[in-house]
Amino acid sequence: MNATTSDPRLAGRTVRRVAFDEARIAERVRELGDEISRAYPDGDLLVLGLLKGSFIFLSDLVRQITRPLQVDFLVAASYGDATVSSGTVNLVYDPETRIEGKHILLVEDIVDSGRTLNRLMDLLGVRKPKSLAICALLHKHIATELRYPTAFVGFAAPNEFLVGYGLDHAENFRHLPYIASLQ
Ligand code: IMP
Ligand code: MG
Repeated sequence: MNATTSDPRLAGRTVRRVAFDEARIAERVRELGDEISRAYPDGDLLVLGLLKGSFIFLSDLVRQITRPLQVDFLVAASYGDATVSSGTVNLVYDPETRIEGKHILLVEDIVDSGRTLNRLMDLLGVRKPKSLAICALLHKHIATELRYPTAFVGFAAPNEFLVGYGLDHAENFRHLPYIASLQ
């Protein structure tokens, strides 16, 4: 999509291509909302967004879920400014909301190596949730290290570095309404 090279949001950077445009994302998020609404017919549902990458996806997703729910966040630091995972995951913000006895849906922007999710799922699992599941907008499917199933996945991601719709490169490009691969 050539239009993106002249997108003023990019500050002169060019994107290689738009992987998922706005309309496609919106359609898939609606489907995920339906799937999730059906998957939890009863019980308390706590949607836990992993900041910062999931903030746009999470806000669109919860508005497509047609059952009661609560929202809280987790902040894990793993990447810094690099485009390669460092492997260490620190919890910088822990949710204040009670987890015990609730259905916990952990919402992640993208599964790459799977290390972040392994660590967070380990952490949350010991807090006695009624159930614990992952919803990822994107999955690179190269996450050989991921020890947990991904119950809800938006898209299979190409093995490229992606930005937009919450995903960043050194904190830039999170506000792009589409998902693109960087040049
Ligand atoms: P993992 O622990 O290797 O699975 O890394 C997951 C985290 O790395 C995601 O939550 C993102 O913040 C970041 N990440 C992985 N791949 C990409 C990408 O293509 N673009 C932007 N961020 C990415
Ligand atoms: Mg990131």
